[in-house]
Amino acid sequence: DRGVRINPSILAADFVNMQAELARIASADFVHVDVMDNHFVPNLTFGPQMVGRIQDVSPVPLDVHLMIDDPDRWAPEYAELGAASVTFHLEAAKDAVALARRLRSIGARAGVAVKPDTPVAPLFDIVDEFDQILVMTVEPGFGGQSFLHGTMPKLRDLARHARKRGSAVWLQVDGGISDSTIEYAAQAGADTFVAGSAVFGSDDPAAAIARLRAEASR
Ligand code: DX5
Ligand code: ZN
Repeated sequence: DRGVRINPSILAADFVNMQAELARIASADFVHVDVMDNHFVPNLTFGPQMVGRIQDVSPVPLDVHLMIDDPDRWAPEYAELGAASVTFHLEAAKDAVALARRLRSIGARAGVAVKPDTPVAPLFDIVDEFDQILVMTVEPGFGGQSFLHGTMPKLRDLARHARKRGSAVWLQVDGGISDSTIEYAAQAGADTFVAGSAVFGSDDPAAAIARLRAEASR
């Protein structure tokens, strides 16, 4: 087992039935929680109050993805409310290493994310400061977009580099992941997969999770 993780994104869930939606993905590894501030990305979701309630009722641990300005100021709050994993964007952070260390000291897994056009080479020497690196496979901001194949060479470089170092870092992809695209990301070295519409757009989210898991493990 290569330790594949499937993390459904509640951005594609019914926001006014969140507790029931969370119950439908109990077979997932984590629930992916997209926080957007309408500044870092042109969309707005929710903040710590909503995420705290999701933390209270979720059957699986939280994988919080912060698409916000000034994560140095706000990310620790999500670790403090009990999120298992907190990922901030490299483009927005003032001091990514210091912030990752702070998140770990609170007890969360520390993640760093890069947008499709952001190079990963600056992360090579600091991969072990993070528990997860998220390579965005769409421009962040909205669910339901098409997978950007052009991000795969970057993911492959990062995976090769991390493996060479013997790093335990998880490599996550987010955006456009479906039964048909997940294999490309898995082949390029991803082990942690976010899927919004592919899971919540399905009549049977548990079956969709199982299918994605099977495709990614081949
Ligand atoms: C996009 C978000 C994603 C989104 C993925 O900015 O970060 O997590 O929910 O949605 P799908 O899987 O529909 O592309
Ligand atoms: Zn996300």
